[in-house]
Amino acid sequence: MGLTSVLLLFSLAALASGYDNDGRVVYEGESHLRNIRQLTFGGSNAEAYFSYDNKQLTYQATLTGSTNCDQIYRHDLTQDPRSQVPKRMSTGLGATTCSFFMNDNEHFLYAGTFHHVKYPDAQKPNEGFDTCNPKKCLHIETIVDPKLRDLCNTSYTWDIYNEYDIFLADKYGNIVSRLTDAPGYDAEGVVSPDGTKIAYTSMSSGDLELWIMNIDGSNKTMLTNTLGYDGGSFFSPDGTKLIFRASRPKTDAEKQKYIDLRSYDLVAPTDMELFWVPVDGSHKEVQITWLGGANWAPYYHHDGKRIIFATDHNNTAGFGAFDLWMIEESGNLDTLERITWDNNQFDSFPMFSWDGKQLVWGSSRNASNEYDLNLFIADWVDPPYDDDSVSSLSIFTALAVLCLRFFQ
Ligand SMILES: *[C@@H]1O[C@H](CO)[C@@H](O)[C@H](O)[C@H]1NC(C)=O
Ligand SMILES: *[C@@H]1O[C@H](CO)[C@@H](O)[C@H](O)[C@H]1NC(C)=O
Ligand SMILES: *[C@@H]1O[C@H](CO)[C@@H](O)[C@H](O)[C@H]1NC(C)=O
Ligand SMILES: *[C@@H]1O[C@H](CO)[C@@H](O)[C@H](O)[C@H]1NC(C)=O
Repeated sequence: MGLTSVLLLFSLAALASGYDNDGRVVYEGESHLRNIRQLTFGGSNAEAYFSYDNKQLTYQATLTGSTNCDQIYRHDLTQDPRSQVPKRMSTGLGATTCSFFMNDNEHFLYAGTFHHVKYPDAQKPNEGFDTCNPKKCLHIETIVDPKLRDLCNTSYTWDIYNEYDIFLADKYGNIVSRLTDAPGYDAEGVVSPDGTKIAYTSMSSGDLELWIMNIDGSNKTMLTNTLGYDGGSFFSPDGTKLIFRASRPKTDAEKQKYIDLRSYDLVAPTDMELFWVPVDGSHKEVQITWLGGANWAPYYHHDGKRIIFATDHNNTAGFGAFDLWMIEESGNLDTLERITWDNNQFDSFPMFSWDGKQLVWGSSRNASNEYDLNLFIADWVDPPYDDDSVSSLSIFTALAVLCLRFFQ
């Protein structure tokens, strides 16, 4: 999904909880996360994914002074984050989303709409040149179509731009090839652990399903086939399955609403659960969670058994406040464990480094304003280390922040 959606998610969270940020990056109870470091300092940054050598991140961001929608950026984990200027890798035209490294650690893929951008009329040079795709439900009072207006009025929506296709780019950002060309949404591409396959979300069957293809775009095969929004998939460490989140409308009314929204390239992501499906094309999906609310952004732990994900289940703070939790693939509720504890903040998009030693994610903790979302990285600790050291660490950090503020 596009980060513009994340922005909306998060501003909703801020509305729900009141903007209340005390400048901390470490919270008590986060016993799996040691040495939490902030990697970006401003803007809306998300969907950061490791290169196979764990030395770089590719991510998407909407930054002040750049375009009004996400572009793809690169972060060098071997350098001090504070001395880095975000390095834009996408064309700067149209919307972009969901980038991922190829296993040479240089090439990367992302979904873009730049090939549909219409250049400004030479006769009207002052009309501006915002090439971002418009959000259908943003200005509800201006919507003329009564059906769309009603759908927008009764749902929280994400735009599924049908202009999205997946492209392969080199280390300079030059487009090397186009990997999808079906009409309709193609995005959310991720590369398999052995670097030979790409899983992605596509509308090419008429519904939003998971697909898999070879690294050159050949042999496109559909993996899911149930009505609903299947998306945000990632490979298991052994490459045999995909973990994903899906909406599964049940009643006739739910199904009709899903289909109506889809006809306008919209989905309502407020009711999603976690599933896995084998990559062999057998369509045998397995549901993992029945938590209610929005359960999404799942990622397998290195052990191939536990899954970290974002959820607002049982959340009373209002839509938009997500935390990271973990559950075993069996879905056994006894294994459900909360990972982030920054109440009413937004935490999502977790990815483990390929060696399982680090976790990167997007969080609104220590944001400078209610729209900022930054990237964070932590060493993953298993089993949890002594809780006392967490609280002393957070006290230390709080003191350090106070001192810094004092001396500025
Ligand atoms: C919190 O954010 C501020 C503003 O971006 C930054 O200067 C500060 O270093 C951050 N704190 C930590 C502990 O990274
Ligand atoms: C949205 O729904 C409310 C409640 O039914 C209604 O009063 C309002 O006029 C609707 N807004 C739009 C823009 O249709
Ligand atoms: C195409 O992909 C399917 C599903 O992954 C696989 O079973 C099949 O062997 C592949 N065929 C070719 C020719 O690569
Ligand atoms: C959610 O809350 C309900 C009611 O308090 C409780 O019964 C249920 O166990 C909670 N679910 C989880 C997964 O914590």
